[in-house]
Amino acid sequence: MRSDSGRTTSVWMATDVPELPTLSHDIRTSVCVVGAGIAGMTVAYLLARAGRAVVVIDDGTIGGGETGRTTAHITASLDDLYQRVEKLHGIEGIRIAAESHTAAIDRIEAIASLEDIDCDFERVDGYLFRGDNPDKEILNRELESCHRAGLTDVELVERAPIASFDTGPALCFPRQAQFHSLKYLNGLARAIVRDGGQLFTGARATRIEDGEPAKVTTSDGHVITADSIVVATNSPVNDWIIIHTKQAAYRSYVIAARVPRGSVTRALYWDTEDPYHYIRLHEVDSVLDPGREEELLIVGGEDHRTGQANDAEERFKRLEEWTRRRFPMISNIDFRWSGQILEPVDYMAYIGRNPGTDQHIFIVTGDSGNGITHGTIAGMLLTDLILGRKNPWSKLYDPSRVTLRATGSFLRENVNVASQYTDWVKGGDVGSYDDIAPGSGAVVRRGMTKIAVYKDDQGTIHELSAVCTHLYCIVDWNSGEHTWDCPCHGSRFDPLGNVINGPAITPLSKLKPEAPG
Ligand SMILES: Cc1cc2nc3c(=O)[nH]c(=O)nc-3n(C[C@H](O)[C@H](O)[C@H](O)COP(=O)(O)OP(=O)(O)OC[C@H]3O[C@@H](n4cnc5c(N)ncnc54)[C@H](O)[C@@H]3O)c2cc1C
Ligand code: FES
Repeated sequence: MRSDSGRTTSVWMATDVPELPTLSHDIRTSVCVVGAGIAGMTVAYLLARAGRAVVVIDDGTIGGGETGRTTAHITASLDDLYQRVEKLHGIEGIRIAAESHTAAIDRIEAIASLEDIDCDFERVDGYLFRGDNPDKEILNRELESCHRAGLTDVELVERAPIASFDTGPALCFPRQAQFHSLKYLNGLARAIVRDGGQLFTGARATRIEDGEPAKVTTSDGHVITADSIVVATNSPVNDWIIIHTKQAAYRSYVIAARVPRGSVTRALYWDTEDPYHYIRLHEVDSVLDPGREEELLIVGGEDHRTGQANDAEERFKRLEEWTRRRFPMISNIDFRWSGQILEPVDYMAYIGRNPGTDQHIFIVTGDSGNGITHGTIAGMLLTDLILGRKNPWSKLYDPSRVTLRATGSFLRENVNVASQYTDWVKGGDVGSYDDIAPGSGAVVRRGMTKIAVYKDDQGTIHELSAVCTHLYCIVDWNSGEHTWDCPCHGSRFDPLGNVINGPAITPLSKLKPEAPG
């Protein structure tokens, strides 16, 4: 499939997603969902099942955003760890977190079974080990916190079941799961259409307004009016400031390497390093391995703040070295990709009514490394809110919440953002356009302005304003994905300035070509 969010392709993207119509007329519906990733598609599926008329639009393809770039561990083991979540949200908070993530795993399994979705869903155990983290007590504290959260079947074992290296003690989370994210979304799409829902791809929302009815306007001027709107664009494109001061965008890197079948026990694995590594297995495509002698070992890590590093090659290399040291049997690396993760300052996703005065607009964001379960929780929670049903999880995930105990990380994240504005007074990445290789980009200073210059493969220069259309930080070139990435709140743009990730909703401005001064 075509990748909507960068140049690299994930292992899932080898699977085709269905061709869908583009929007060519105005529509009145009950619920309009903007964004066809795991969150939007699950909301749409559950609402369509409940008998609501649903319209889903996406500016790319189904699953073309971060759901196509995930590693799809489906787990109640939180990547921010229960012990940290407990400090901010208390025992009641971690109980709800454990209950809702466990319910999300069960719900994915139930949907895959009910809808007969052949998405490689598989129950596997998950193992959390310490890795190089010097904190020797981290696993003991996590075990106690998991038990207080109600995950009483989590236990400390001598080591994770990896023969090629000794992980040391590990926490075992029984009956977690994994799947193929795009095959699952394909199945949801089929079921949504069967239940009367309508799906449109290549339809970009450029304006989202509350009201009775609420309205979504697309870039080609079509209007969808609806009783409720769900903004499931990963980073909400309707909210300009509030949410984006409460979360930070990170990029994470993944490799998928061949290993002999059976050489690594099928399970999910994570360490507690910062950034942490995450590991699972997946089938090699039967065309590439007709004898079924190999599997893919999928390993992720090396995260950094979006737009604050441009060294993808070195990160992939470090990830490969880390993997080879622990899994010396890996052979060919078939896939390398990166993706975006939104880290909320208080660790829990934001799922619910949009903060402020909006009554009919709902959002889901702040997915963290647990976005598959968070997206599924959004399906359940937002369906209840839209249908006017009470949901016991709504307070924990309320996007309007203020978690006073997270004030320190709130301030740190926003000081980091503020410091990015100094890019306005710094020099450019290169002094001359000649220093830009064909097929790449760089920021160039021209007087008081900064220009994002892309030289295409034929050597033609494309000049854009380097000023992000969200809150005016200066974008950076991402040589791994060939995108312009904003260091402030994670907006991303393709080489020609079209928006890939919000919060920005409008493209980078095009400039007339002129020699740099
Ligand atoms: C490398 C990596 C590994 C990960 N591993 C895991 C894991 O193992 N387990 C886990 O639980 N989570 C994991 N995650 C997180 C998880 O994959 C994501 O949080 C989740 O897929 C996000 O789903 P979403 O529906 O919110 O967003 P997306 O899948 O990004 O969907 C949003 C959609 O909105 C569309 N859109 C955006 N703007 C507009 C607009 N203006 N108009 C119309 N459409 C628009 C986009 O095209 C996109 O299709 C990982 C993420 C990454 C990047
Ligand atoms: S994403 Fe906020 S300024 Fe660019």
